[in-house]
Amino acid sequence: MIGIRSGTLIAAVITCLAASPSISEDAVAMPPFQPHVDMKTFMAHVLAPAAAVIWKVNATVIDENGEHDLSPKSDDDWEQVVSGAATLAEATNALMIPQRARDPDWNGYVKRLADAADKAYRAAEAHDLKSVSEVSDQLDGICAACHRHYGLE
Ligand code: HEC
Repeated sequence: MIGIRSGTLIAAVITCLAASPSISEDAVAMPPFQPHVDMKTFMAHVLAPAAAVIWKVNATVIDENGEHDLSPKSDDDWEQVVSGAATLAEATNALMIPQRARDPDWNGYVKRLADAADKAYRAAEAHDLKSVSEVSDQLDGICAACHRHYGLE
């Protein structure tokens, strides 16, 4: 009896080992990517709000008490910058899902945004205002380059 049981077990293990490479190959070849929103909505409600957090780092407001810069100061402020940068960086992956790419240049424009967002994320984690501020300055040009290429501005 024991002999039969362990033989069955070995057979089962071998079956699993044989099956698993093809299962993971399929999963890698065809991830179930799915755009949930159209491009306008993606831009206005996913990318732009995340980018706004990065732009705010260099922004100032003027009220009756004078001028205030909106750069992060408290740990909570920094957490918000981390969230914005992390969201922006991860959103670039969603921008590259195949159904969204408009032509072969698409991913190159997205990559520039991804690199900037990644730099902002690392800088925010390190509370490095100078580096986040540099990204904040460059961001508009990165968005605009893609918009120009696709005739949007
Ligand atoms: C890879 C190319 C690409 C990049 C990078 C990109 N955009 Fe866009 N964006 C588009 C396209 C394409 C549209 C036009 C969408 C449409 O109208 O179908 C658009 C449109 C927009 C719109 C107008 C949405 C509306 O309501 O009409 C906003 C706002 C916008 N983008 C913000 C941004 C911001 C902010 C960034 C940078 C953080 C950015 N985009 C980066 C491709 C890009």
